[in-house]
Amino acid sequence: MMKNRSLISINDYSKEEILHILKLAEEFEANPRQKILSNYVIATLFFEPSTRTRLSFESAINQLGGRVIGFSDSSNSSVSKGETLRDTIETVSLYSDLIVMRHPLEGSARFASELNGTPVINAGDGANQHPTQCLLDLYSIQKTQGTLDNLDIAFVGDLKYGRTVHSLVIAMTMFKNTRFHLVSPMELKLPRSIKDFIISAGLHYHQYEDINDVIGKADILYMTRIQRERFADQLEYERVKNAYILENSMLENSKNNIKVLHPFPRVNEINQNVDSNPKAYYFQQAQNGVFVRQALLASILGLK
Ligand code: CP
Repeated sequence: MMKNRSLISINDYSKEEILHILKLAEEFEANPRQKILSNYVIATLFFEPSTRTRLSFESAINQLGGRVIGFSDSSNSSVSKGETLRDTIETVSLYSDLIVMRHPLEGSARFASELNGTPVINAGDGANQHPTQCLLDLYSIQKTQGTLDNLDIAFVGDLKYGRTVHSLVIAMTMFKNTRFHLVSPMELKLPRSIKDFIISAGLHYHQYEDINDVIGKADILYMTRIQRERFADQLEYERVKNAYILENSMLENSKNNIKVLHPFPRVNEINQNVDSNPKAYYFQQAQNGVFVRQALLASILGLK
């Protein structure tokens, strides 16, 4: 179904294809060390920093018996000598079966995917999309709530630049009766182009500036970091950087089933006193990334 197809934006996949990946991820969670990638070489090209995405992809590949090539710092590649993205991708395609790529420029992953037949997985392109994070977020929501339908999901923080938010909002419009609660400073509201997905799906959103207005109604509280690296004006970043800090006491009147998610890295938007609360799910969420990425690799390589 997804064989040899790149994944650049979450809406490249239908709802059925997303559900197929989530089902397959359950299989990999039960048996993550099946050696199905022993004949494959995967390239991980990270032109931007990463901990979870790169290392969970590499752990996923290693556990399945595959080989990884690539770089985590493009200053150590010929990019530093002025090589174009086109030439880098054309070359790496000769050495690998699939390319996982993170790049600061929006649209760069789409560009790379259109160069030749080697499938590309977008591991984050600027402030645009982060579809593999989205899949692991969906897996985490389904696992903790037992469903992806009829949920109140609150997004908190940098909704303007947060690519994980953009992908997850789009994905949740595919499910029945999602209610979106969007909490951000005025300057960091969800872009109109993403809100249009909600409207086109016949769903509703509400916007807030105070996080306390949503904690009591949320099934999922999706916290995000204010994305310092995307601000043109650092003074503006300084003004909003501590807009939201979740404290354990703030969860006292939340629903029993609520889970706090965060794509990470966090700076200080979730106090460490929340970490031991059973409602905190962000480290398990990061672990789920391995199983979901195994499912994705197996699907794109036509192995499952
Ligand atoms: N969630 C996420 O993309 O984390 P990293 O930047 O550490 O990969």
